[in-house]
Amino acid sequence: MDKYAVVGFPIGHSMSPSIHHQFAEKTGQELSYSAIEVKPENFDQALSDFFQSSGKGLNCTVPLKELAFAKADQLTERAKFSGAVNTLKLMPDGSLLGDNTDGVGLLTDLSENLGLSLKGMRILVLGAGGAARGILGPLLEANPSELYLANRTVAKAQLMEELFAPIGHIHACAYESLLGQQFDLLINATSASLSGDLPPLADNLLAEGAVCYDLAYSKQPTAFMEWGKQQGATISVDGLGMLVEQAAHAFCLWRGLMPNSKEVLSQLKQKTS
Ligand code: ATR
Repeated sequence: MDKYAVVGFPIGHSMSPSIHHQFAEKTGQELSYSAIEVKPENFDQALSDFFQSSGKGLNCTVPLKELAFAKADQLTERAKFSGAVNTLKLMPDGSLLGDNTDGVGLLTDLSENLGLSLKGMRILVLGAGGAARGILGPLLEANPSELYLANRTVAKAQLMEELFAPIGHIHACAYESLLGQQFDLLINATSASLSGDLPPLADNLLAEGAVCYDLAYSKQPTAFMEWGKQQGATISVDGLGMLVEQAAHAFCLWRGLMPNSKEVLSQLKQKTS
């Protein structure tokens, strides 16, 4: 049976095995998918062990995405720009293809599950680390009217502005300089939610009908989701939809067919609510 897994640290809470098993069942594919705890210092070894024992593909999560990027023999265009790989596929010649399905996963959730069109929107992304880098390319390609990137360390946001200049313009800025501006879509790509924190956001950043989206997901609403609701967002959600959609795109890269992610997402939502 073809073998797949997700690697990361920590990994105990991962929903990926359940998501991929449901995809496999619904598409009639026979495969196994497990979660393996791997620390960065053991990544090289874990990788060769996995692919030498009939592994066909891996998902890589925090903190291994940059290491996976470095280990891939070939990269898709979107992985090159994002500087990170969340999906590795063993190719017939034995080489490893690295892809990043995070950005397309987010865009699919926003457009297909939440019914949003980003064209002409004013978008604000919070945070300029690895998670932000994975989504900026696809967001620019969706033709928003403006894309702002706020970060505590402004120099990191400026680096992203330079990096993505070939795709489109990003306004790198500090949180304080957002005062007086309004946005239709706010995306929290900071790691603040993981520790129950909130980026330093001013009031009145939300335009009428604004949407707040936290890339993190958890059983309880995140601090950012709560903030969004208090500020009057029409939709304030976590990244569960993105998680399922990035998994669907990884599954498609491995197996050559797209699973029905909508059914799996609605079942997961029922379970977690
Ligand atoms: P990830 O891969 O999850 O993006 P990362 O590369 O370490 O992780 O980046 C974390 C991001 O969250 C950074 O943009 C960080 O801001 P700084 O670059 O200024 O450190 C941001 N971040 C983390 N905690 C935060 C907080 N409490 N408030 C605002 N930003 C925060």
